[in-house]
Amino acid sequence: MLQKPRGTRDFLPDEMEARRAVEWRLREVARRWGYREVCTPEFEDLELFTMRSGEGIIGEMYVFEDKGGRKLALRPEITAAVIRMYINEAKVAPKPLRWCYYADCFRYERPQKGRYRQFWQFGVELIGADTAAADAETIMLASGMLDATGVTYDLRVGHLSFMKNLVKDLEPAMQRKVRAHLDKKDFDGLNATLESLKKTDLAASLTALVATRDLAEAFEIAGTIPERERVEQTIASLDAAGVKYSLNFGIARGLDYYTGIVFEGFAENLGAENQILGGGAYRLAHLFGGDDVASCGFAIGFDRVMVSLGETALNRKDTIVGLACTDDGRMRALAVGKAFRDAGIRTEMDLMGRGLGAQLAHASKSADFAVVIGKREAETGEVTLKNLKTGEQKTVGLAEAIAEVRAHGAR
Ligand code: HAM
Repeated sequence: MLQKPRGTRDFLPDEMEARRAVEWRLREVARRWGYREVCTPEFEDLELFTMRSGEGIIGEMYVFEDKGGRKLALRPEITAAVIRMYINEAKVAPKPLRWCYYADCFRYERPQKGRYRQFWQFGVELIGADTAAADAETIMLASGMLDATGVTYDLRVGHLSFMKNLVKDLEPAMQRKVRAHLDKKDFDGLNATLESLKKTDLAASLTALVATRDLAEAFEIAGTIPERERVEQTIASLDAAGVKYSLNFGIARGLDYYTGIVFEGFAENLGAENQILGGGAYRLAHLFGGDDVASCGFAIGFDRVMVSLGETALNRKDTIVGLACTDDGRMRALAVGKAFRDAGIRTEMDLMGRGLGAQLAHASKSADFAVVIGKREAETGEVTLKNLKTGEQKTVGLAEAIAEVRAHGAR
């Protein structure tokens, strides 16, 4: 028997309904903040992703050559593609641009719970605003979106300038290495690297920086930071807006395009793969031939949010009508079914040639109401409506039956 590729998943209807419901909650929050949806190709020129991150990233991607010999990659994330699109299509549009997306990404990773080779991100990019207000807005939106999903999470906010200031005397390659150690919370690796560089004094400051949750203390540890005022303004805005977060200056972010504020969300009930959101301020446009536009954004790991919500996300909201009929009621039942569906009610009719009793037995397993059309109903134009939960049954006009089913859905 053929199986799906490693690291991919199939989604049955119950799960798809739950996913769509959560997806729409996220869309609704994005809409309220003025973020409009964009869509980019599933695959891009490989260069789009190697330009910033180097050839090393190829090992983590699905890379292939097409029939024309072009080197392409399935997108491992959407930010680079959105910025490419901004340069191609919207460079002259009034700033800032507020864009969002819901899209699948592909990473060649070792699959485990919460880590897949195909996964979905709901993300936003705020392009062309280089202010504390912009940094704060994306974090407020991130927290609003996670709230809307119903997930229990912990939002951590940091800023790269602290870490950067401490390691500024190291060579750029070593700075990246230190950042990678911190991103992975690999303190043994960090100590070994600093020892090899004869910079063991740095280890104490970096460890203290990672540990502190206090802004004043972080400034004390990291020294003079040019972005100080902006960091203070951003944090003050978050407090004024009532965002729940904790400060964490150990956030280094894996992708290397971030420049300033960085933030991550963690779900409380997931195992190792508990990061459900990541983002920050970044600059990419200049790499792709555009102006050096400042941007800030984040992506929610949609699949991890769904894993975190678990069974609670599976509650079906739809009211279902099972339409049952006798042979001489069938033609009338087709019209009744149309009337129910036109009223927005999910209505399913027997397709198996079952007798009325078997149709009702089937409806009682899957539906909330049965609507019965027999010979009598076909003649009078009425319908027999049975509430399958209470057993209550009555024969009423079509409009009244529809109103009753609708009222049930509204409860
Ligand atoms: P990222 O942290 O690499 O950031 O990914 C964002 C989220 O995607 C992660 O926090 C995680 O929840 C989810 N995720 C990542 N890899 C997997 C996987 N293999 N399986 C399931 N979920 C996964 C970015 O991608 C940036 N583009 C975010 C961003 C937008 N920064 C600025 N704008």
